[in-house]
Formats: sequence, structure tokens, C-alpha cells
Amino acid sequence: MGDYTNMSAYYDLIMTSGYYDYAGIVDNLITHQPFDSVLELGCGTGLILEEMATRLNSPDMMGVDLTKAMLAIARKRLKRFSNISLSLENVTHFDLERKYDLAFSYGGVWYFVIDGDKEPFLVSHLPDDADNRQGMEHVARHVRTGGKLLLGVQGPHYDYERVISNGMKYSQKILPGDRGFTKNYYLADDAKTVMAQTLEYRTYTFAESRSLLSDFGFEYVPNGGDNPRFLAFAKT
Ligand SMILES: C[S@@+](CC[C@H](N)C(=O)[O-])C[C@H]1O[C@@H](n2cnc3c(N)ncnc32)[C@H](O)[C@@H]1O
Repeated sequence: MGDYTNMSAYYDLIMTSGYYDYAGIVDNLITHQPFDSVLELGCGTGLILEEMATRLNSPDMMGVDLTKAMLAIARKRLKRFSNISLSLENVTHFDLERKYDLAFSYGGVWYFVIDGDKEPFLVSHLPDDADNRQGMEHVARHVRTGGKLLLGVQGPHYDYERVISNGMKYSQKILPGDRGFTKNYYLADDAKTVMAQTLEYRTYTFAESRSLLSDFGFEYVPNGGDNPRFLAFAKT
């Protein structure tokens, strides 16, 4: 179900060693203005919210995440921003008792993978279909009519290893399954494994994902461009 506890102490180091391009992600998010309120689903250690808050001072921002250790890092990072709130939540159950103009997830609960010219497919940290439906239902309650849901786009996942900025070796291994894949993440300091995390992901074809999103009032809005950072869905 997407618990990042094991990785949390090393997350920032791995991600800022070239795994995600936070400035580029936020460049794209900003193009979806105007919005006065923003909800990040699976905000992790708060790297995107921090980058957003340094560039835009007005929006009221909320980040939710189910991993306590990730959120603890986000709380420290973001405490200087009075317009950012954080809450420990699983998207399958949450109720913040309000609606947002824009909700997004980048590498969080859901994201799309685009592999060359192939059709995008949706990847979910929730391995069960019923949980995805329940999660989408809860997200839909938090986005105002006319608002947007943006789901990040990533390249295909593959096995590799790479030395990161502190000299440790990050590696990942993907095992395909019937309805998704298992991903093993490792970090090693010489021969010693300092972090190991295994997560199960569910995948949906593009048609299945559009149908899932549409069932909860989110309609796909093609935004053109060869390298979209997010696919956009308008809340009807
Ligand atoms: C790869 S991290 C992405 C974090 C952040 N968006 C970033 O770009 O750095 C995925 C995050 O999604 C969270 N997550 C996964 N499933 C979740 C769920 N069902 N509800 C809330 N958060 C979830 C994990 O705890 C983790 O912090």
C-alpha cells in the first residue's frame, strides 16, 4: 500500500541525485494557474511543496501522505511556510472537510508512465482495484467542480544501479506481475545494504484509467506537447 518508511531517511538524497527534476515539475504545475488552493496526494518529504511555495506565495497548500516518517521530514522542511498544511492520511479514507482548486500527485499515489510512442498507462501505489476506486472517490470529494486533478508523467521503470551524491549505490529491480509489478529499491554503502524497500504497484491501461477517473467525475483534458509532466483531468 505504498509505505515508504524504510526509504524515508534516504529519500531526499536519492531523489535530489537526479531521480526527479523538482524545478521542472513545478515549472509545469505553475502553468495550471490560476488556483488559490492546492492539494498534493502523496507529498512525501515535501520537496514539491517547498519548491512551489518559494515561487508562489499566495496559494493555500495541503499535503497528505500515509508514511509518518516521510511526513515528519516534510513538517521540518515546510514549517517556515504558514500557507502549507500537512496531514497524515491514506487517500482511501481521508476527509479534510473542504475542496481544492487543484489536486496533483507526482510519483505519489498515482502516476502515468509514457514509454516512447506507446499509450500512457497508469501506475498506482494501491495494488487493489477496490482501493483505487475508494481512493479516487475520496479525491473527487476534495476537488471543486471546474477544478483539476493532475497526475505526473514518468518514463518507463527499469533495472539499474547508480552512485548517488554521497557515494552510496542506489539500485532498483522491477519484477512484472499479472496486474502490475513489484519494485525493489536498495541503497548500499560499499558491501553493506543500508536501505531495502519493496512495493507492489497496480497498473491500468489508458482506457481503464480514463474509465476509472471518469467514474468519479474526472475527464481527460489533452494538453498537447511532446513531453508532458502531468496529464490533466477536469472535475465535472
Ligand atoms: C515516490 S514518493 C513521492 C513523494 C513526492 N510527491 C515527491 O515527488 O517527492 C510516494 C509517496 O506517496 C505516498 N503514498 C503512497 N500511497 C499512498 C496512499 N495510499 N495515501 C497517501 N500517500 C501515499 C508514500 O508514502 C510516499 O511518500
